[in-house]
Amino acid sequence: MKKIYITTPIFYVNDLPHIGHAYTSIICDTIYKFYQLNGFDVLFTTGTDEHGLKVEKAANSKKVNVKDFVDSVSKNFKNLTFKLQLSNTDFVRTTEERHKNAALFFWDKLETNNQIYLSKYKGWYSIKDESFYQEKELEKINNEFYTADGEKVEWIEEESYFFKLSNWENKLLDYYKNNPNFIMPDSRRNEVISFVSSGLKDLSISRTSFKWGITVKNTKNHIMYVWIDALVNYLTSLGYPSISDEKKEFWKNCIHIIGKDILKFHAVYWPAMLMAANLPIPKTIFAHGWWTNEGKKISKSLGNTIDPNKIIEEYGLDQFKYFLLREVNLGNDGDYSKISFLNRINADLSNNLGNLIQRTLKFLNKNFNSTIPYSIIDSDTKIQPLKDGYDLLNKVDEMMKIFQISFSLKLIFDYITSLNKFMDREEPWNSFKNNPKKTGKDLAILIEGFRLIGIILQPFIPNASSKILDTININKNLRSFKYLNKDHKIQKGHFINEPKPIFPRYETKDC
Ligand code: MSP
Repeated sequence: MKKIYITTPIFYVNDLPHIGHAYTSIICDTIYKFYQLNGFDVLFTTGTDEHGLKVEKAANSKKVNVKDFVDSVSKNFKNLTFKLQLSNTDFVRTTEERHKNAALFFWDKLETNNQIYLSKYKGWYSIKDESFYQEKELEKINNEFYTADGEKVEWIEEESYFFKLSNWENKLLDYYKNNPNFIMPDSRRNEVISFVSSGLKDLSISRTSFKWGITVKNTKNHIMYVWIDALVNYLTSLGYPSISDEKKEFWKNCIHIIGKDILKFHAVYWPAMLMAANLPIPKTIFAHGWWTNEGKKISKSLGNTIDPNKIIEEYGLDQFKYFLLREVNLGNDGDYSKISFLNRINADLSNNLGNLIQRTLKFLNKNFNSTIPYSIIDSDTKIQPLKDGYDLLNKVDEMMKIFQISFSLKLIFDYITSLNKFMDREEPWNSFKNNPKKTGKDLAILIEGFRLIGIILQPFIPNASSKILDTININKNLRSFKYLNKDHKIQKGHFINEPKPIFPRYETKDC
């Protein structure tokens, strides 16, 4: 069985989960479910990034013990995995022993390979990003320096261990050149290439001015740089340092899904450190864009963060997922607004998909006693709606391979539109009076279309898909992608359950 390993970034526990965390998780979950239904063996890890100055400060400002603080905030992120019904196979907390061992072993490996030296760091640091900056990357306003995101940086001078990042500049550039799909989308790849080409400095990888973190072995006060600590979580989940041969196969096919803001850490520092530790490099790093709220940047200080729990409680999980996945092409930024959200779910889910299924099944229920009246024969499979339905997986698969999730959904919903047109053209409610045989055949074609839609939509809107498949009475063992073909088509005499509305319609006049 082919193996794939999907990862979300691990989330800082200085804050409550918001739409950004939900977005990364939903993308990974969709990819996970798609591959799993397509016959792959998939691992999917997420978790919480619990060390560092930022978290220590957040706990101090609340006057709580840091460990108690991280325990309680990490729970919020674990709860989000339940709320989003994620299929994650692991949840790594960086305060776990298995992770500390992995991070320390990784450090040892770098040290043994002569990649680390002791010196003094003098320079700028952003606590929010937990990142070092060169002056040329900053903007000076009234004698103070700010990052491009408007975060004030602080000057630090302290003894520090350094990773010989500058040694890896050419090797990284070669790697990017020889592996064009390592960083996606292309615009981000170009960004990284230009960043590395402009010169890399050695990286400070320990801090001595705070305590909350993993203490470097044989030192009293050096705390491992939180980004090294955090990145190693992807290996921790595979059992590092003792990764089995099977898990090594997963690592080769690892896909890191991240936000665009943390690209440098994943696409520059991480592969350099992996090479330095003699470890293989993951297959792909895909950087997605950021969401704004009603056109405005989301920030705690503006008080406009979007709580995924609230939207899910008000409108449903599938609606929330569908909007995020369909509204923007993966990689682009997107704007969440109530009106675009409601318009999107009303038009696609309620009108296009929900109505079609509801009116077809009700008609079958009323006029054919909920029983399929016709068996599709081989020559029927050339009829357009069926032919298109059986071709759908290949097309969607091509798109999913390049992470075009929105376009995959577009292909599926275009197909649903074509079924609506088929229904309107063939008018079963009219043909029924004079030619019930034709009506029966048209209905069988439509319901076979619903079977295909129900199966292929499972990675994207799993709850609605299972409602559709339950209603048209498809055996739970016959719902993976290998059944998306004519060999498993619905037969005459197949009984349909009582149709229930799948998606409500929402009023938009108050928006
Ligand atoms: N702890 C680091 C990641 C370490 S991974 C080894 C971190 N954590 S974070 O909690 O700040 O961010 C987690 C993810 O949320 C990032 O991928 C980030 O891009 C994403 N988002 C945060 N706000 C976002 C939006 N407004 N929109 C979309 N995603 C955003 O970084």
